[in-house]
Amino acid sequence: MMGTNLRWGLLGAARIAEQALIPAIRAAGGRIVALGCRDAGRGQQYAQRNEINRVASYLDVVQDAEVDIVYIGLHNAAHLPWALAALAAGKHVLCEKPLTLGASDVDQLIAAQRIHGRLAMEAFMYRFHPAIERLHALVREGAIGQPRLMRGAFGFMLENPDDPRWEAALGGGALYDVGCYPIDLMRQLSGERPEVLSVQASYTDRGVDHAVSALLRFGDVRAHMDCAFSLPFHQRFEVLGGRGILRIDSPFVNKNQETVLWRGDCAERFAPVDAYALMVAHFQRAVRAEEALRYPLDDAREQAEAMDRVLLAMEPSGAAAV
Ligand SMILES: NC(=O)c1ccc[n+]([C@@H]2O[C@H](COP(=O)([O-])OP(=O)(O)OC[C@H]3O[C@@H](n4cnc5c(N)ncnc54)[C@H](OP(=O)(O)O)[C@@H]3O)[C@@H](O)[C@H]2O)c1
Repeated sequence: MMGTNLRWGLLGAARIAEQALIPAIRAAGGRIVALGCRDAGRGQQYAQRNEINRVASYLDVVQDAEVDIVYIGLHNAAHLPWALAALAAGKHVLCEKPLTLGASDVDQLIAAQRIHGRLAMEAFMYRFHPAIERLHALVREGAIGQPRLMRGAFGFMLENPDDPRWEAALGGGALYDVGCYPIDLMRQLSGERPEVLSVQASYTDRGVDHAVSALLRFGDVRAHMDCAFSLPFHQRFEVLGGRGILRIDSPFVNKNQETVLWRGDCAERFAPVDAYALMVAHFQRAVRAEEALRYPLDDAREQAEAMDRVLLAMEPSGAAAV
């Protein structure tokens, strides 16, 4: 595969693929050879718009001899079965977050990966942004002393009542969709698993969480996490230590904007960058064995276990349903 363009098959005529992954794969030198879609007509229109030659069923795409890497952009509950199918067909897998709906599901993927010898990674693109990498470096170097408190929030108003994220059976809910980001960053920064002190959640009348607030402890570091489908768009992350504060106001989604890392009153500015393309480029280098995979499935298992802990501790807050 050295020197050749890696060939990608996409599962789902998904919004996120059109907005971010298709341009990212192309920017990173990948070639998109097939699209899997449940509806051939809709798939054809999407493929035409995005200059993809072939539309097929999901199964045909994962078994396509011309596909090296399968990208899974399906709703959350479809990630596990299609990641297993792709690994079994000998494909590498880049799958949207959250990779699964539980840590035991990641165990199945780890077992499949061992048998089939292919790579799989959870597509948390924000981790590849230079501002996030700098945040890690500053914390590691002791720029703020020992971290004592982390605060992370991510939310928006999910207006469309037909969105799959309102369906419990499809892996819906604000925690899975947006809460996973601050929890991931807290875990990565502290290197610890969360102890859950309390979690308050508001649910729709169909039992899907639309606002969650958690009080957590990662080793010696206390943490507050908020996420929502029922508030105006917001995102923020800060780490407080004995000697200072680091803050990023757009830590998770920032494709076309400058990102500012605040160190007290001092701003470090990062020009707009496509973190999706940085993630895809890294995954392709790992597939070519040019570098080690930075986030293997063991990390995805830690993330899924952290999510499980928060989910298990959720208590209804009694707030009105949306
Ligand atoms: N990394 C990021 O920045 C980011 C951002 C947004 C979303 N995501 C993740 O990407 C994934 C897709 O998100 P999206 O917003 O792009 O979703 P979407 O466009 O609503 O749906 C993605 C695909 O899921 C399938 N699907 C949708 N509704 C379904 C239903 N009711 N039953 C069966 N299949 C259904 C469809 O496949 P067909 O086309 O085959 O019908 C659809 O194309 C999610 O896991 C999400 O968490 C990541």
